[in-house]
Parts: sequence; structure tokens; C-alpha cells
Amino acid sequence: MRRKLAAGNWKMNGTTAALAELDALQGAATGGAEVLICPPATLIAAATTKAGAIAVGGQDCHPDASGAHTGDISATMLKDAGATYVIVGHSERRADHGEPDTLIAAKTHAAWQAGLTAIVCVGETLEQRDSGKTLDVIGTQLAASLPDTVTGANTVIAYEPVWAIGTGKVPTTDQIADVHAFMRATLVHHFGADTANAIRLLYGGSVKASNATEIFAVGDVDGALVGGASLKATDFAPIVDALNAS
Ligand code: PGA
Repeated sequence: MRRKLAAGNWKMNGTTAALAELDALQGAATGGAEVLICPPATLIAAATTKAGAIAVGGQDCHPDASGAHTGDISATMLKDAGATYVIVGHSERRADHGEPDTLIAAKTHAAWQAGLTAIVCVGETLEQRDSGKTLDVIGTQLAASLPDTVTGANTVIAYEPVWAIGTGKVPTTDQIADVHAFMRATLVHHFGADTANAIRLLYGGSVKASNATEIFAVGDVDGALVGGASLKATDFAPIVDALNAS
């Protein structure tokens, strides 16, 4: 049985005052689904002291455990700060920092080495969707971003169409269902049914309280990766409640 996961990605938002949001999420976080907040790295250690029922994660990691990489943060450091998850391959990292699938596979491996669960993000651009390449793109990203020793414990996959992130545009539930079914089948093909069926598949991109219930009703959607609507507990708690009720 896959435990549902509501993951909040605060991106480059939040200073110490934002940690008060964690207090207001505690009620929703004890309703069955796992709740995760990925704040900026500067807040991880402080967040873990207030996290209660909420897990804390990083938003990115370097593939090496340590070394001469000014400004980067390793998975080992995230773990040391109290994180249990790390997002890798977010489309903003792929676009802003030119991260290829091979680097994302190395980061995923680094996360596992440090004892973190990796949330590996995949998703097509609007141009790729409009030219009918969505499943090809997702299939390639999945095959190239996941090392062979993937398990349901060490990895979560997030399907985030690039055109849906921060735009208010959301795919239809049929489009989400098609991609999630394809991802499950692709994982079965590469890693076998037992492993594939243990891996949680999240949807991400403009998830809000108003669309959460219908998204969580889609087959093979095990939760959400939420950006903007995770910043305030008043927005995120109803999404977690919808997941708890699904
Ligand atoms: P959004 O971001 O919910 O603000 O669209 C999702 C994400 O980038 O993970």
C-alpha cells in the first residue's frame, strides 16, 4: 500500500517568520497522508525543530558528498540538517541551471547514499505537448534519471508539466491519468512490478484547494508536489485534507 504524500516546495521563498506556517499545518498532517515541506536550505535545520508530524526536505543537492563547489549543498549536509527528502530534477533547475538527466541520476544516487528519499521530477514543455511528444519525453526522463537500484522507499516520482507550473493552467484529469498510467507501465518495464507498484507518483503544477479533490481521484496519483499553494497553511491544509479524504 503506497502512503499518500502531500509535498510542499517553497522554492526561493521564506525567512524565519514563515516557519509559523508549520504550526498551522499540524492538524492536517495527522490525517493519514504524509506531509512534507521543502523550505529553502537556510530554514531546514530550524524547520525540523518545529516540524512535528511534518517531514522536511531539501529542494536540490549536489551529486558529490563534499568538495570545492562554492554555493552548493550536498545530500549529506541536508541529511545532517534533519531533512529526510530531497527534490531533484525540478524543471526550474533543469531550465535555470541546464541540468541534464545524467546529472539528475547522479543527484538521485547521492540522495540515496545520504539516506534521503529522492523526489525525481519529470515533465514536458508546452511545445513538446503540442507536438505530441509528451510520453516520449517522460519515458526518456524516467529511463535516464533513475539509477537501477530504485525502490519505493528511496524514490518518489513527480509528474510536473512545465507549462502548468505557477501558471494556473492544469492538464485535464484524462491527461494526468494518461501520463501517470504511462509512468507506472514504464517503471514496471524497467524495474519489475513489485518495485514499480511501490513507487509513489505525484502530480504537480498549479494544484490548489479548488482542484485537489478531482486530481487526487485520478488513478495512480498518490499525492501532489505543490509550489505556490504550499506557502500558506490556509492554502495547503485544505489540499492535505483533500488527500486525506481521497
Ligand atoms: P506550483 O508549483 O504549484 O506553484 O505550480 C509546483 C512546483 O513547481 O513544484
